[in-house]
Amino acid sequence: MPNKPDWFYNEWQQVGLDFEDQQQVSDYDTRQGSDPDADQKLIEQLGIRPGQTLIDLGCGTGSFAIAAARHGAQVHAVDVSKTMLKHIERQCNHQNIQSVSLHHSGFLTYDHKGQADWIISRYAYAEGYFIGRSKCYETDAG
Ligand SMILES: C[S@@+](CC[C@H](N)C(=O)[O-])C[C@H]1O[C@@H](n2cnc3c(N)ncnc32)[C@H](O)[C@@H]1O
Repeated sequence: MPNKPDWFYNEWQQVGLDFEDQQQVSDYDTRQGSDPDADQKLIEQLGIRPGQTLIDLGCGTGSFAIAAARHGAQVHAVDVSKTMLKHIERQCNHQNIQSVSLHHSGFLTYDHKGQADWIISRYAYAEGYFIGRSKCYETDAG
């Protein structure tokens, strides 16, 4: 949306925890209890298949996005925090994962090119609307 009205919500502002803060990001996975095995289980429960395209809105440190990529999905990891995106980039480089595309954008501003099989958002939903073909499930993880 090139010309946003005055009332348009500023999704770039950090509300609550400051996810631009390096310490918050470094501590996040331990504090949150991010668990690759649980991520894999959720991927299987949802029925995400290798080769499918998945958008993770508010991807954070990328625990789920990276698990999905390791499972064979093409992942678009979207977050308003540059610090979070740098964290994922380092993880992907470290694990030699090339199927995660990073987008510095948000629920309201991300403009996906092409189709997607899945739109996932975990612990990040604040405001939003979903456009396009998607499968929405409510899971134990939220
Ligand atoms: C609590 S973390 C959740 C991270 C990850 N989804 C997980 O499952 O661990 C919330 C994330 O949402 C991001 N976020 C907050 N508002 C957002 C918005 N409007 N659009 C995209 N990401 C947003 C934050 O920067 C942060 O990385």
